[in-house]
Amino acid sequence: MTPVSATLDRTEDRTGLPTLAVVGATGAVGTVMLTLLSTRENVWGEIRLIASERSAGKRLKVRGEEVEVVAISAEAFDGVDVAMFDVPDEVSLHWAPIAASKGAVVVDNSGAFRMDPEVPLVVPEVNAEAARNRPKGIISNPNCTTLSMIVAMGALHHRYELEQLIVASYQAASGAGQEGIDALYDQLMKVAGNRELGTTPGDVRRVIGNALGPFPAPLAMNVVPWAGSLKEDGWSSEELKVRNESRKILNLPNLKVSATCVRVPVITTHSLSVHARFGREVGVEEAREVLRDAPGVLVFDNPAEAEFPTPADVVGTDPTWVGRIRKSLDDPQALELFVCGDNLRKGAALNTAQIAEVVAKEFTAAK
Ligand SMILES: NC(=O)c1ccc[n+]([C@@H]2O[C@H](COP(=O)([O-])OP(=O)(O)OC[C@H]3O[C@@H](n4cnc5c(N)ncnc54)[C@H](OP(=O)(O)O)[C@@H]3O)[C@@H](O)[C@H]2O)c1
Repeated sequence: MTPVSATLDRTEDRTGLPTLAVVGATGAVGTVMLTLLSTRENVWGEIRLIASERSAGKRLKVRGEEVEVVAISAEAFDGVDVAMFDVPDEVSLHWAPIAASKGAVVVDNSGAFRMDPEVPLVVPEVNAEAARNRPKGIISNPNCTTLSMIVAMGALHHRYELEQLIVASYQAASGAGQEGIDALYDQLMKVAGNRELGTTPGDVRRVIGNALGPFPAPLAMNVVPWAGSLKEDGWSSEELKVRNESRKILNLPNLKVSATCVRVPVITTHSLSVHARFGREVGVEEAREVLRDAPGVLVFDNPAEAEFPTPADVVGTDPTWVGRIRKSLDDPQALELFVCGDNLRKGAALNTAQIAEVVAKEFTAAK
């Protein structure tokens, strides 16, 4: 779907177009979704905005028009063709099957159904065809860390057959939702202007106090080697998601994946340092060409001119940015790369919008 830059013409004819519900329209992902829906080529008739009881009655702008948010209920899904869910796992677990039972195709951004064998996990540039096989009427959107690299990895896999990924992430605060964004801004305010901080053990902790937000340690002036919840043998849920979801999307059940997930004081845009090993020898120039030709990937890689992706430049953009592309010094079958992707765009809202647009085509074709 081609993005268009201007806000859409509100006089356009939307007759016969499918009805879309955005569930979680008031959240961090939902907010970006409304921007995307206002700037991408329109494929929707009515757009209904749904959130919790707390937000009912709020008015939000989408496609240049104010729309009132309604509280979630079974009736809120009446007549809905496609329902995007940008809500916490437990809310999706409860409400997505209800929306599906009312005839909506659900595109779920939460972690509730990603590993369900009857729910496809879709990245349109990599496995768009998987969206058609959805026995539960639900399609899952991968987590933001996996999504930030998988389009580039899919393109390289297609050429070289991926065997192993060793990944370190540098994840932004907004990966923990609006609460994460608020916590980092508040912490930055607390430390700003104090030129003595960061010099003695615990000084930053003392200034931040218990305003940690969703993070287990201060995030301002710090890096925190933790994202998600504790799973077996010391792994975090986020690290296991990178492994399990990469395997499912690429249809490589035996792919070796080792991830260390780290939170950094960036508002939005996840970065990943990736060691990718393939089934055959790779040429670095050829790999660069493969990535340049891949839809959704932008190669930005000229260290001599200080050109490499950084979150400060990537935030608010759609592609997966790739730089620092090197052939591994000790392994002719491996590449080292640095990848950045806006976790609220391709990492969440954009991928969901793209999946929903794939489904919308089915409705439009059927009419
Ligand atoms: N942030 C990311 O980078 C990212 C990336 C990929 C996927 N995701 C996933 O996307 C989902 C949303 O994340 P977020 O970061 O946007 O979270 P968020 O900022 O906390 O927003 C949560 C949204 O869910 C709504 N909600 C909460 N409880 C509800 C309930 N009981 N019924 C109906 N709506 C309810 C909230 O509505 P109210 O405003 O009314 O409370 C709000 O709109 C999560 O599953 C998250 O894991 C996030």
